[in-house]
Amino acid sequence: MKLFDVYPLFDIEIVKGKGCYTYDSNGTEYLDLYGGHAVISIGHSHPHYLKSIQEQAEKLVFYSNSVINSLQQKFANLLGEVSGYDDYQLFLINSGAEANENALKLASFHTGKKRVLAIGKAFHGRTSLAVEATDNPKIIAPINANNHVTFCPLNDIDAISSELAKGDVCAVIIEGIQGVGGIQIPTNEYLQALRAECDKSDTVLILDEIQSGYGRSGKFFAHQYSGIRPDIITMAKGIANGFPMSGILINPKFKATYGMLGTTFGGNHLACAAAIAVLEVFKAENLIENARNVGEYLMTELKKIDGIKEVRGEGLMIGLEFDTPAKEIRTRLLKEQHVFTGASGTNVIRLLPPLVITKQQADEFISRLKAVLA
Ligand SMILES: Cc1ncc(COP(=O)(O)O)c(C=O)c1O
Repeated sequence: MKLFDVYPLFDIEIVKGKGCYTYDSNGTEYLDLYGGHAVISIGHSHPHYLKSIQEQAEKLVFYSNSVINSLQQKFANLLGEVSGYDDYQLFLINSGAEANENALKLASFHTGKKRVLAIGKAFHGRTSLAVEATDNPKIIAPINANNHVTFCPLNDIDAISSELAKGDVCAVIIEGIQGVGGIQIPTNEYLQALRAECDKSDTVLILDEIQSGYGRSGKFFAHQYSGIRPDIITMAKGIANGFPMSGILINPKFKATYGMLGTTFGGNHLACAAAIAVLEVFKAENLIENARNVGEYLMTELKKIDGIKEVRGEGLMIGLEFDTPAKEIRTRLLKEQHVFTGASGTNVIRLLPPLVITKQQADEFISRLKAVLA
């Protein structure tokens, strides 16, 4: 059987990982400034994480959501404590798109409306509503083009206000920091104004923190720099360090009814064990603080390098914009310097390293990048 060929692949097979490094099938070591697309939060093969999932797997991998799973409550308690959203409710699913799909569905149930405002260059995933709210016509199939979504430019509050004034919008969805869109940051003033506009019009404000959340920005969620509290927050990527899992945090004003949302796999025992281990490591190793400190250091050093047009980001979510396409730089970083990075559009390289990255490893990256740019 052939694989459905949708991914352009690098000719490399990664077979092992440790901390901030990965290793290919020939034993070559790579510095990982990509974290498998922002997924590796506590580092590859963290011993506490491995022990937790191994112990859980020996007891029980899965049972359905028809019986009590106290691991879900243990995870919720820990997440409430670490995120500052102890008063919110938690619903668990399996992927980022699924988190946004459920958030948008909940907003529509809650308001009885069905139009959504999303932001230019947004990426929210590939399921039906999530992809409709994604600003990329190439990945919207005819069956997904249902005219639910209007796009407004980032940081343009007037565009949002005039759409909300029409009275038919259930939700505004916005990324904490745009990832696929090229590390574009909503200003604090914009997020505060958005919160006020949503309050005024009874619209649900959804923060997609799938890439920017889970400590990556130097706060648990990127929107926490602005002081606002969204109605729904979506999370995935770093939540279980590679075990497929996602969740939505839901303001207490939303009332649950049986059957309103549901899933077979979401919140299963093994996923919860992985997610609990992740937050235990966050606390034990002060990973949010590390993301803030090493991120600040990296950005300061990157800004000193000639040949980069702009360095932008928060914490360990950093974009390097070049005047010309960055593909060759990225390929040389990988092939010659053995560094994994991510891309955004044509001219931007994205850095999304594990949150355990040290200053020494940041220096190692800087010198390898300089070697390519020299
Ligand atoms: C901001 C954001 N939202 C949603 C998604 C979709 O997540 P998934 O691929 O797990 O469905 C992504 C994935 O890159 C993302 O970056």
